[in-house]
Amino acid sequence: MVRQLVCASLAVPLFAYSTWAQSSMAAAGKAVGLNIGAATNSNQLTGTSTYITNLKAQFNMVVCENEMKFQPTEGSRGKFSYRGGDGVSDFAKANGMAMRGHTFIWHSQSGWAANITGKAEILNVMKTHIDSVGGHFKDKILEWDVLNEITSDAGNGLRGTFWQAALGNDLPDTAFAYAHRVIGEAGHLYYNDYGAEGLNAKSNSIYNLAKRLVEAKAPIDGIGLQCHLSAGLNAKDISSNIKRLGELGLRVSMTEIDIKNGKTADWVNLMNACLENFNCVSFVTWGVDDSRSWIGSNCDCLLYNNNQPKAHIQALIEALGKADPTVTAKRKEFIAKGATRVAHPLQNARRMAAGNLLRNASSMPVFSVSSGAVLNILGRNQTSPALSH
Ligand code: GLA
Repeated sequence: MVRQLVCASLAVPLFAYSTWAQSSMAAAGKAVGLNIGAATNSNQLTGTSTYITNLKAQFNMVVCENEMKFQPTEGSRGKFSYRGGDGVSDFAKANGMAMRGHTFIWHSQSGWAANITGKAEILNVMKTHIDSVGGHFKDKILEWDVLNEITSDAGNGLRGTFWQAALGNDLPDTAFAYAHRVIGEAGHLYYNDYGAEGLNAKSNSIYNLAKRLVEAKAPIDGIGLQCHLSAGLNAKDISSNIKRLGELGLRVSMTEIDIKNGKTADWVNLMNACLENFNCVSFVTWGVDDSRSWIGSNCDCLLYNNNQPKAHIQALIEALGKADPTVTAKRKEFIAKGATRVAHPLQNARRMAAGNLLRNASSMPVFSVSSGAVLNILGRNQTSPALSH
């Protein structure tokens, strides 16, 4: 009798734990306000497959690995194709997943645009592309990579690219302004880069750029840390970098995670660097399965191999379950306020100053080149005909 009572009293907490613990990364992420995503391709999402089962089982966010880049969406000037992005976005909608948009402006995979020179022409190309792709996918995308990899690896300013050659240091201001005209408050606007996850010259340069943009009241909402990493990653520095970006009022998303020869500890350490910070909102792996990784099928860099889940997944679910409730509450509050645009004093100041900014539009390079257009509070052009979408 005594023994039975002891067993019964032990059984209660065990039972309670097993019903409370989440069964997937997506569910555990949702419980702490974190999107858990993966890059995918529309041709992997038709019919039935173990790949699809795995994607649906563990993730609640997707991003096109390639299909929403410049070249795939605008193969020749002014001719747009959205088929790939539509396939992924339909899948996201059908499965209740969020989506990232990757990417408007990048120097790579930009096809014919790389041959365009001159400020007026480049502005025209940039605006048309962002208006069209942004207009088509608006309301389907939670986070947009407006700019990808525009910072030099040495961290001494902007990378030399065809975009930068034409626009100089106005490149980021211009791209964010164009994106904001189309997206308005319907999605969060990001700067995304690699090799700047922790503390180094490149991440300092990106931090300084972000600070300048926030102080100039540019419509930037977040920084994407690509996170193409290797075993032995320095999670402490990554956490410090996320923290300082949070002090600017910016979201951070880990946007393209793969960890070469990653051990479970690397995955958990990276997740914890995110969980420690209220402003870290998305954890996105660059693919689902090693067999299709851009690094090569032997990379041991993702969470599945040949359709088999790795032990990392369960460890990540447990790490998510142990997240500090105080940080989680702060993250949820941060997200609930919509964009960082209204969640931080600096950003509030930006909104309040929007009227002044628009009145002084001629002093802003991006606005002065757009044929004297009048902009409304969302940065939309009031004088031009409807945007081309
Ligand atoms: C960069 C880009 C991605 C992708 C990877 C390699 O990180 O941002 O879109 O091309 O390189 O797959």
